[in-house]
Amino acid sequence: MTQTATPARTTTVTAAAPAARLLERLVDELSAGGALEDSWRAAFLAVPRHLFVPDLVWRSSPDGRRADPVNRTAQPAEWWELVYRDEAVITQLADGAPPAGAATETVSGVEFTSSTSMPTVVAEMLVAVRAQPGMRVLEIGTGTGWNAALLAYRLGAGNVTSVEIDPVISAHAREALAAAGYGAVRVVTGDGTRGHQPGAPFDRVLFTACVYQVPYA
Ligand SMILES: C[S@@+](CC[C@H](N)C(=O)[O-])C[C@H]1O[C@@H](n2cnc3c(N)ncnc32)[C@H](O)[C@@H]1O
Repeated sequence: MTQTATPARTTTVTAAAPAARLLERLVDELSAGGALEDSWRAAFLAVPRHLFVPDLVWRSSPDGRRADPVNRTAQPAEWWELVYRDEAVITQLADGAPPAGAATETVSGVEFTSSTSMPTVVAEMLVAVRAQPGMRVLEIGTGTGWNAALLAYRLGAGNVTSVEIDPVISAHAREALAAAGYGAVRVVTGDGTRGHQPGAPFDRVLFTACVYQVPYA
């Protein structure tokens, strides 16, 4: 099991009206910016990002020199605003002991091992992969599970397999997916650079993790 100084926290699930307004604002921004095609709009509206983001996260400081913690309980306004901004949210800092095979990423000089990707990037990847309802998709790098939930909404949860190398992160994603109604997504704990042979072949493969080399598998 990975030793994480900053383990993913269980999210308290509350579907509040303000969340719906924040979500609509984000989705409108993504559509207006051209990242989100109509075919994916319903999925983005149906899957609230806050169900997947842990209570303790980090964001770049205004001077871009460090990552500041944002705690849902202590700073609710900042937390909700961050979750529904078009920004990547850091969900786990590097503690010097990432699982073998996992790469760390750096923002503002801060090393981290997991994040929920920037919504624009997620929308562009989903459009680019041209996944259609009913196709079977393999995602490498489950992270929070938000992207897997978007795929599950459109393709059917049973058609989505997602591999996450960090057992703490994969456990959180499983929990969040189940709470959001997508418990049938198969979350596999392992090194996705090897693919996932038991579920192969897949119609599409999406890679949302960071690697030093493009893996042969
Ligand atoms: C940018 S995050 C993924 C974002 C995610 N798709 C989401 O919707 O929140 C990248 C994730 O990939 C995981 N990862 C890194 N290397 C991996 C590997 N070789 N196999 C599987 N997962 C990996 C990290 O632990 C991290 O959680």
